[in-house]
Amino acid sequence: PVLVVDFGAQYAQLIARRVREAHVYSELVPHSMPVDEILAKDPKAIILSGGPASVFEPGAPGIDPKIFSAGIPVLGICYGFQVMAHELGGVVDRAALGEYGKTPASIDHAEGVLKDSPAEQSTWMSHGVAVEQAPEGFEVLAHTQGAPVAAMQDVARGLYGVQWHPEVRHTPKGQELIETFLHDCAGIEAHWDASSIIEDQVAKIKAQIGNHQVICGLSGGVDSAVAAALVHKAVGDQLTCVFVDHGLLRKGEVEQVRKDFVQATGIRLVAVDASADFLDALAGVSEPERKRKIIGERFIRTFERAARDIVSKAGEQGEEVRFLVQGTLYPDVVESGGGDGAANIKSHHNVGGLPEDLKFELVEPLRTLFKDEVRAIGTELGLPDEIVWRQPFPGPGLGIRIIGAITQERLDLLREADSIAREELSKAGLDRDIWQCPVVLLADVHSVGVQGDERTYGSPIVLRPVSSEDAMTADWSRVPYDVLSAISTRITNECRGINRVALDVTSKPPATIEWE
Ligand code: XMP
Repeated sequence: PVLVVDFGAQYAQLIARRVREAHVYSELVPHSMPVDEILAKDPKAIILSGGPASVFEPGAPGIDPKIFSAGIPVLGICYGFQVMAHELGGVVDRAALGEYGKTPASIDHAEGVLKDSPAEQSTWMSHGVAVEQAPEGFEVLAHTQGAPVAAMQDVARGLYGVQWHPEVRHTPKGQELIETFLHDCAGIEAHWDASSIIEDQVAKIKAQIGNHQVICGLSGGVDSAVAAALVHKAVGDQLTCVFVDHGLLRKGEVEQVRKDFVQATGIRLVAVDASADFLDALAGVSEPERKRKIIGERFIRTFERAARDIVSKAGEQGEEVRFLVQGTLYPDVVESGGGDGAANIKSHHNVGGLPEDLKFELVEPLRTLFKDEVRAIGTELGLPDEIVWRQPFPGPGLGIRIIGAITQERLDLLREADSIAREELSKAGLDRDIWQCPVVLLADVHSVGVQGDERTYGSPIVLRPVSSEDAMTADWSRVPYDVLSAISTRITNECRGINRVALDVTSKPPATIEWE
């Protein structure tokens, strides 16, 4: 793989994504990983990410300079570039001029990693520290007003660095630079694509599961469907899918899964109605992390019960189900604090929400993938568009879209409002433009309204349409006013108890996509 060493950057995952967009497999590793361990992973190239520290501050994360003499091409970005310069004897100091945002860079030598660059490039910068002097052996390729050395390289040693962020779209020639580094400087071929991922994962799944029985928790979303299809390809009939109706589903979801999934794949499906159980466990709970943990735990208990049923049905030859497949994605892992050094933003039900006494061994073939990669695999595996292009819906379902305690009445109300919003957005042809549109019930908030000359005192519904590339960051979608108006009118007319519809116009960050 290509390893991205994470110095605590907001953008480290983004670097990994961009490498994969260049059809090269990449993984993140924490900067605290010993260099011997990094090298033992046999990386074809290494990228050092940005980070919030300054190299000359006490306690600033560094890296064992051995990494620069291992004969592996290294690209340093922003802080990673400064670390490279610092460790190899260059001069790094507070910049006379900090540069934040769009910054023109003068390219003095359009060579090597900057091959074919125009004489000036628009770049995205975020630095208050600059490399004043490159280490010995390096050629300075570019400068900006605030960075005397904005890009440098030592071709003989395979070392490259840039002060700016090539991974963000605001650097128009950024992807080109990453691809030049990977393909030209490091000589890595572009092989990573949907079919190579499938081949790779199928082999891994076979090795992990052997000839044992395995179940897969299906949510109706693309992730678990693709995970199931991959496992089915690997171990065939050893797989049983379990679809849990936890009472927090949207309208028509159970039927949809039967229709889209079972018909398309022919995989054995067991549907379990566990709604009473989930709602009991959630009664009176309004704290989001507790909801998530309870839901995560209930899911596992339900899978355990389903597994016992499968065994008892199989009778004599019945062998215990050892493995549980989950459609966990890379961003779920990172945001649940599972990425090394990452903060726990929220416990995704299938990562941070798992009980400690989990008896299953997990099979998570998508754990290192992003959503767009999962969709590409789904298509390659022959899943229908209805599944592959379904908008994401979180495992905890409507449970984390009722702000306040969950009751049957509130669920029914939200389910209705959600169904109206979905219907109108689809009718307007916006399904693919919008990443997803959570519909949120502010159950404990009441406001005064007037309907049919009567005073009402009801709760608001919030619409949260967002556009995103991978759910790590998002912007609010500019849904046409007419569509919003149609949704608002229908919800207030058809959902008794809702007298206001509000639109959430916050990006992520600072908000998250879901309200809880
Ligand atoms: P946030 O709210 O963290 O959401 O910006 C990012 C994406 O993840 C989905 N999400 C979840 N999916 N289990 C899931 O399966 C969860 O616990 C969970 N929490 C959030 C959310 O819908 C969005 O697509």
